[in-house]
Amino acid sequence: MFSGLSHLACSTCDKTYGTEFRRQMCECGSPLFVQYDMDSLKREWTRDQLAERKQGMWRYHELLPVTHPDYMISMNEVMTPLMTLPNISKDMDVPLLLVKDESVLPTGTFKARGASVGISRAKQLGVKEIALATNGNAGAAWAAYAVRAGMKSLIAMPTSAPRVPYLETCYTGADVRLLEGTIAEAGIFVADYVLQTGAYEVSTFKEPYRLEGKKTIGFELAEQLSWKVPDVIVFPTGGGAGVVGIYKALVELQSLGWIEEGRFPKMVVIQAEGCAPLVRAYESGEKVSTYYENAETIAYGMRVPKSLADAHILSIIAKTEGIAYAVSDADIRKERQNIVRLDGFHACPEGAAALAGVRKLREIGFIKASERVVSINTGSGLKYVDQIDCAVQTAQEKI
Ligand SMILES: Cc1ncc(COP(=O)(O)O)c(C=O)c1O
Ligand SMILES: [Zn+2]
Repeated sequence: MFSGLSHLACSTCDKTYGTEFRRQMCECGSPLFVQYDMDSLKREWTRDQLAERKQGMWRYHELLPVTHPDYMISMNEVMTPLMTLPNISKDMDVPLLLVKDESVLPTGTFKARGASVGISRAKQLGVKEIALATNGNAGAAWAAYAVRAGMKSLIAMPTSAPRVPYLETCYTGADVRLLEGTIAEAGIFVADYVLQTGAYEVSTFKEPYRLEGKKTIGFELAEQLSWKVPDVIVFPTGGGAGVVGIYKALVELQSLGWIEEGRFPKMVVIQAEGCAPLVRAYESGEKVSTYYENAETIAYGMRVPKSLADAHILSIIAKTEGIAYAVSDADIRKERQNIVRLDGFHACPEGAAALAGVRKLREIGFIKASERVVSINTGSGLKYVDQIDCAVQTAQEKI
């Protein structure tokens, strides 16, 4: 069996749907999650079978929603490295710190995972045009994979989106629209566009399949750690597909019996102080977040004023005894520079935010020195070159 795809289930109510047609969200307005035939997979699929397979996210195709290899749109996604940052680790007193470096994926961010699976499934469903709202990186990834699949794409992003992902998206020939405001305003534009044109909307949580690609971060890190999950997973969070995807992966691995039943890492949601709807909800004990007015941060991928899956993310934090925690833009800048000055690694601001969060959470004792911590560097630092400030001197000035 190439895929154990079974049906779609609402993340909130008890409605279920078949997988044969294009679907966006549940009738109740909540995201739909893909379900698999776990009993059959448990009988037919073992961890040992992975040994002979090619590296990369498609090695877990039984738990991906594409039911025939002909529809796979892949650009040789690698299994991203789990690396140490020895000096940062020492500096923060987090000896068992690992960083999963997503910058080595096609288009330079973890967005490639969602785009590869999302576009593949859209192709299988006969989609000819996709549309999405993005802060930039998802646009660059989906536009590239859409080209591979022969699909048109409409990508809406804020006028303030970082320049590199914006140019990258335009260069693919995608129809790029810039809008004032945040990703929320871009989302309103896209919702209207799909109503008028019949394009398939693939914005975060507006269709069920992007999440399945994101989930593969969780499969990979479990496999890389010899099927022993870490104590803490730290994710720089905007829309939340990363956190929800990793958690879903761990639930699925538990039901296959590949990892220990009932033991989850503490899921840590890091946001920026200038856009922290989930942190505010977590701190006030709310089950959903409220729209974050005037959202602003240099960690652009995290500039999402309200996630469509906020209730689900908050419940994951509660179930895993995790935390939602905010860091300032000043902390992010400082940590980004620390990482490159101490360990020579160019993190993206979102990845630096996650590590700034690790530092603070260690200081307040939430993270213990004995704990295995995996922090996700979601993309390449080179996507945000204009944030790098160092005084450039000519040779003469130096003398
Ligand atoms: C580099 C980067 N990191 C983190 C995020 C946030 O990820 P998520 O929306 O899955 O929470 C994004 C989203 O745009 C991003 O581009
Ligand atoms: Zn529902």
